[in-house]
Amino acid sequence: MLPEQREVLDESLVKIRAGRMTRRTFVERAVALGLGSSAIASLLEACGGSSGGGTTNITWTSEHDGSGVYAKLVDQFNKSNKGVHVIYTNGPNETDQLRQTIVTALRARSGSQDILSMDIIWPAEFAANGWTAKLDDKFPKSEQAKYLPGPIQGCTFNGSLWAAPLRTDAGLLYRRTDVVSAAPATYDDMTNAAAQATSGGKTKYGYLWQAAQYEGLVCDFIEVLAGYGGSVLDPNDAKKVTVNSPEANAALTKMVSWVGAISPQAITTFKEEDARNSFQNGDSAFMRNWPYAYSLGNDATKSKVAGKFDVSVLPYGGGANTTPHSCIGGWQLGINAFSKNVDASWEFIKYMLGADAQKTSAAEASVFSTLLSVYDDPDVLSKQPFFKNVKPVFATAVPRPVSPKYPDITTAIQARIHAALTKQSSVADALSALASDLQNIVSK
Ligand code: GLC
Repeated sequence: MLPEQREVLDESLVKIRAGRMTRRTFVERAVALGLGSSAIASLLEACGGSSGGGTTNITWTSEHDGSGVYAKLVDQFNKSNKGVHVIYTNGPNETDQLRQTIVTALRARSGSQDILSMDIIWPAEFAANGWTAKLDDKFPKSEQAKYLPGPIQGCTFNGSLWAAPLRTDAGLLYRRTDVVSAAPATYDDMTNAAAQATSGGKTKYGYLWQAAQYEGLVCDFIEVLAGYGGSVLDPNDAKKVTVNSPEANAALTKMVSWVGAISPQAITTFKEEDARNSFQNGDSAFMRNWPYAYSLGNDATKSKVAGKFDVSVLPYGGGANTTPHSCIGGWQLGINAFSKNVDASWEFIKYMLGADAQKTSAAEASVFSTLLSVYDDPDVLSKQPFFKNVKPVFATAVPRPVSPKYPDITTAIQARIHAALTKQSSVADALSALASDLQNIVSK
């Protein structure tokens, strides 16, 4: 659904819930928007049928879920009769696209989406704009301690909690075990193994990753950069730009060398799903992706590589003091500051953060739980054996710069790094231009 369509639908939902629009008008609008009859019926059921009996309807558009686990959990919650009914929409594939829709609505002070799925890079910006409700009272420190500290930190800004961590993410290296026998240690090792796989005719490509000009590229860049010992901003002084360094030059030079060699030329248009689909089709020896690709890749009805791949930590540069690093991703649930249903929304968030929902998401969709106990759960470990090896990944994972100015920071990184990958600028020029863009942004 296009953002404009979504907006019209959201407004209509709010009106019908408030008794300011008839069911008939709603159906006419929904049909005009191209919605199917079953979708319209379920929206109407949620809006009209139950609100009279003391049920509060709330809305949630999630980050994209290709596994269907969120829809299933929402359904279970709705059936549990807590007096809250969630009207759920699966969101777009791309974080940038979801942000655009949400930010447009928030700028218009719209409360039509009660619950906001928030990428880990958004809480600082959303908090600074007053777009989400503070959750400190609802989610006290004693509860927070049961969750991974990184995502909790990502939800905290100016000492308050602005969202609750639903799932975390960390970049992983996927490797075809029938093509390459051992996980490579360094990026050079991986590059060599990938080149051998393609030259020996075992796979069409050596390595798939995310090099389109969008948020995913920033994650991939930060990982290789950290693996070579570099950083974007000084970790101890966010006003100091450190990206124009020999480490960054080595990292970006390596990335540029993959384009059109171990990676297809078209890698500069690839996002997560492009990489996953091609890997699942058996095209590549290696892939960088998030954990969600594990369970989808092992679905033999859709994947040609089910049971034929493994995941490991990402490689690293190999120079003195270099170690592997993943970028921290992940999704949080925030309550829209303009929502009229704060308590009802929290009821649902509590359920999604609880042990049952966290276990189900991990076991069925291989998403990294934020709840610590899930990593020791035998049911989860039997379905997702790689979970037992991921603690070191969390310990060394690196965040993207935490700043209310992140939207400007990411735009600059995306443009300059993409220009180097598409050879519109040299590595040295791209890094020096990026350093000057970032210096302007952070010193404002
Ligand atoms: C994943 C991560 C998110 C990141 C995005 C980039 O969804 O969880 O943090 O921004 O990928 O494409």
